[in-house]
Amino acid sequence: MCGIVGYIGNEQAAPFLLDGLKKLEYRGYDSAGIAVYNDSGIDVEKVKGRIKVLSDMLQGGTRVKGSLGIGHTRWATHGKPSDINSHPHMSETGNFAVVHNGIIENHMKLKNHLQELGKSFVSDTDTEVVAHLLDHFYKGDILDAIIKVINMVEGSYALGIICKDDPDTLYAVRKDNPLIIGLGKHENFIASDIPAILEKTRDIYRMQDNEIAEIKRESVTVYNMAKEVIPFEPYHVNWDIGAAEKGGYEHFMLKEIMEQPKAIQDTISPRIKNGKIVLDEMNLTPEELNRFQKIVIVACGSSYHVGVVSKYVIEKLARIPVEVDLASEFRYRDPLVDETSLVIAISQSGETADTLEALREAKRRGAKVISVVNVVGSSIAMESDGVLYTWAGPEISVATTKAYSTQLAMLYMIAIYLAKQRNRIDDAAYDHYVSELQRLPSLVEQALQNKEVVQYVASRHFNAKSIFFIGRNIDYALSLEGSLKLKEISYIHSEAYAAGELKHGTISLIEDGTLVVALATCKKLFDKTMSNAVEVKTRGACILGLTTEGNEKINDVADHVFYVPEAEELFMPSLAVIPLQLFAYYIALMKNCDIDNPRNLAKSVTVE
Ligand code: F6R
Repeated sequence: MCGIVGYIGNEQAAPFLLDGLKKLEYRGYDSAGIAVYNDSGIDVEKVKGRIKVLSDMLQGGTRVKGSLGIGHTRWATHGKPSDINSHPHMSETGNFAVVHNGIIENHMKLKNHLQELGKSFVSDTDTEVVAHLLDHFYKGDILDAIIKVINMVEGSYALGIICKDDPDTLYAVRKDNPLIIGLGKHENFIASDIPAILEKTRDIYRMQDNEIAEIKRESVTVYNMAKEVIPFEPYHVNWDIGAAEKGGYEHFMLKEIMEQPKAIQDTISPRIKNGKIVLDEMNLTPEELNRFQKIVIVACGSSYHVGVVSKYVIEKLARIPVEVDLASEFRYRDPLVDETSLVIAISQSGETADTLEALREAKRRGAKVISVVNVVGSSIAMESDGVLYTWAGPEISVATTKAYSTQLAMLYMIAIYLAKQRNRIDDAAYDHYVSELQRLPSLVEQALQNKEVVQYVASRHFNAKSIFFIGRNIDYALSLEGSLKLKEISYIHSEAYAAGELKHGTISLIEDGTLVVALATCKKLFDKTMSNAVEVKTRGACILGLTTEGNEKINDVADHVFYVPEAEELFMPSLAVIPLQLFAYYIALMKNCDIDNPRNLAKSVTVE
């Protein structure tokens, strides 16, 4: 949802800004721009299209001179993608240049007010008001002007600001949107995410809400809104730069699919000690764990799908009711949560606006909130009562794969842990689930070996108009993710349905040759799912079955089959998701789609 970079140092800013933006392209990619301070003032270069268009236009940045600058890659919210709506935005006087990630919710009111004062606007964006307001309030002290602007704007923002009057400072502000400061030698940086600056520095400070940073070549000072200097604690990033690069794969998505065994291993193994699951990070006492009367899971997109799978697992093992809510719905429906509820927020980025707000709403109502998050120090992590990090490493592909898998593994752990703490399973069952959990990385590794059959089926169906995914119970929960993965990267219309529900309306869409993916890993419901598959087959559908190795019965119904290794039934989504991710990937590849950056999407959704 827009990416920001900024540089101040002794090198040329533009090549770094373009390179940093390239690494942030997953956050939005409908237009891009940079502003660099030089002798002639602030040079702004921006254009509709990918970073490459900008980079070609600027000959890799060599055309723009100067060692202080800001850059932006956009995912449009206010104002369609166009040259003029691209960031940076300038104040009318040309004194301030601003890049912004987020939404200024009261921008219309502010714009009207500024227009009454005689300011004229050139773009349709909400961001432009920030540039004009800075000019309006600037009376010689930039910090004062920034504080006044922040006090006026409502909404969420990460801002990078430079001013013509101050060639030696880069300013940064954040509220409800990520922004990091990278600390270098004789140079410093800002960025929306670590990969943009990792080649330059590993010493990072993650800005907190309502902090303002004054960044110079040799120093960084952080202020609060009362203009008091506040201490800040940088941390050292120890993951390898290769983690944020393709490493020989054609796409990040495929690389991240292949990384799943390790990611799951990294997530579960530090938390299993002497055969016991230790989740101290939840920050909950045994009394609290026993007091909760229900669990509410809030999340968006694929993270929500993890929640749907978890409902089956937690209810089955820990015998506690679980509600799964789309975070965007939870926030506004006057939810029934209080101090007897445990709320679990799931988010890869830790910055999803709706999930963050749902978390805040739950806390206001007295609930304890724990989060399952991939990005260390992100807003959701910081605001939760306890945080369980998934150690998936950076996920660059917009379509999530390894984050989904690690979230699933983390939720299984929570389920087993709760079951034990609440005395719902005996020692033998506990040991069984823990050892099944530990088998997952190698089973996922095996599931990844069956790529050829997935490629073959993809080659037969990549021209499909519409593909359905059906399943029962936990297979249904997984079908949601299979369907989303396919549609988001291949642009093939797809729907996921509880297998028993199809005949209540949607079956009318089945035509000759429609592909229906029947997920059937759940043994006790296998025959029922097959009956539903037959119902659509008799109406012309082609059936792609997915089941466990050795189950030959599926061939009676299915035209093609994806087999996956067998594991504890409750954990089967971790294995069954593998061919579904690969299926989406190969179909998108055959359709020549932009796999890592599908149209209209952005990796981190920091607006409502
Ligand atoms: C789909 C996908 C999205 C995210 C959703 C939530 O592949 O990645 O549906 O799952 O935008 O994002 P996070 O998990 O960062 O809160």
